[in-house]
Amino acid sequence: MGVMRTKSIEQSIADTDEPEYQLKKSLTALDLTVFGVGVIIGAGIFTLTGRAASTLAGPAIVLSFVISAVACGLAALCYAEFASTVPVSGSAYTFSYASLGEIIAWIIGWDLLLELMLGASVVAQGWSTYAVVFLDNLGIPWPESIGPGGSVDVLAMLLVAVLATLVTIGIKESMRVNMVLVGVKLFVVLFVVFAGIGFINPANYSPFIPPAASTAAEGGAEAAWYLQPLIQALLGWEPSAFGIGGIFAGAALVFFAYIGFDVVATTAEEAKNPQRDLPIGIIGSLIICTILYAAVSLVITGMVKYTDIDPKAALANAFVSLGHPGYATLISAGAVAGLTTVVLTLMIGASRVLFAMSRDHLMPPKLSKVHPKFQTPWVITLTIGVIVMLVAGLTPIGKLEEMVNIGTLTAFILVSIGVVVLRRTRPDLPRAFRVPLVPVLPIASAAICLWLTLNLSIETWFRFLIWMAIGFAIYFLYGYKRSRLATGETLHDMAHKNDGQK
Ligand code: ALA
Repeated sequence: MGVMRTKSIEQSIADTDEPEYQLKKSLTALDLTVFGVGVIIGAGIFTLTGRAASTLAGPAIVLSFVISAVACGLAALCYAEFASTVPVSGSAYTFSYASLGEIIAWIIGWDLLLELMLGASVVAQGWSTYAVVFLDNLGIPWPESIGPGGSVDVLAMLLVAVLATLVTIGIKESMRVNMVLVGVKLFVVLFVVFAGIGFINPANYSPFIPPAASTAAEGGAEAAWYLQPLIQALLGWEPSAFGIGGIFAGAALVFFAYIGFDVVATTAEEAKNPQRDLPIGIIGSLIICTILYAAVSLVITGMVKYTDIDPKAALANAFVSLGHPGYATLISAGAVAGLTTVVLTLMIGASRVLFAMSRDHLMPPKLSKVHPKFQTPWVITLTIGVIVMLVAGLTPIGKLEEMVNIGTLTAFILVSIGVVVLRRTRPDLPRAFRVPLVPVLPIASAAICLWLTLNLSIETWFRFLIWMAIGFAIYFLYGYKRSRLATGETLHDMAHKNDGQK
């Protein structure tokens, strides 16, 4: 069937050799790990830790972080195998095109665009929230109407505009900026841990897993039904928070904090030695972040009773509540620097996914031209920049993190299945990195990710289904007929055609 057609791995790799579509190969294992840490640590740890601890899991939020890390770790192994087998721009989209067929590749590509573009918008809004706090501390008040939560978030839009320009000028240059900002961010996270340890009051850890409490009473039964995790509704449970269920709901939410390691795989074509360096970059950055997150969540829930934790800026305000506002200013400054790299990296990832999709003609091919001087896909970068800017500037700050999570988890599920499929269909391919215990680990990865999606709210599922319906409409009305697999057109033909037009 047409929708199940696959693109051969050899063809995927050959496409990257066409000079007009070639990206510069300049990234090392260290660059990739820094890139990973740069995109992973962001709005998740700085903002969601507080919300998840105070409304879903209490001190057991550290367990939520560990559960999420296990899901990501398993998915990371699958990503690493795929990335080392098919070192081509576009991440999971490209891998699945080679193994699961075009329609699945489209679904993953569409999910990744949701993850990366919406993720960048959400983090840009978080950035502007911290930037306003920071400016305020310097005595520069920012007008509310053009700040976060106002009618237009001008600060978030400005940030996106500057970063989109940086990405267009060149990835190596953006990496250098990234490296400095990642250093600042790591310092701030370690500062929270070491400065906070002395303030821990063991009494705050009790009860470690707060007993399950009904949420229907708080918001009214009507408000609660669509905010309840899908799994509770499916099993006919009363909407509730905390308890064991709260730990899982917390895991499904803080999953956002880990998003990004997969973006490392989107830069495969720009890595010097992708077979060795990609697995190091992906798994290394994930391990570093897991340790930091567990430490931060233990320290914060030890410093402040979970019922008193600030759901917005927990890290900074834990110190304010203990009489150290100076520390809070430092942490806000670090958050501003830290969130910048996240927006930057998510936008780079989005541009590379869209690049791969347009090179395959599932999206308009004109988008994927590489700039002759900068060697970056500039039309795509600017298109994404404009979309992210509008979403960040004009949509209200809501529960969009969950939307990002569901898109990402769905991509992870499909990637995990893809590893098993590719082992069967192409056992001959050289794999510099192999997932141990196939098919057990990939199946476990898919199962845990599926479980986390079921712990997201009904509202999120509903929005996600609408997003997917739009995606299917675009595929069947546009990509299905124009796909290069359908027309048989090669990149070489295209380059030639363009020559003729010049
Ligand atoms: N993991 C990224 C963050 O927490 C998306 O901001």
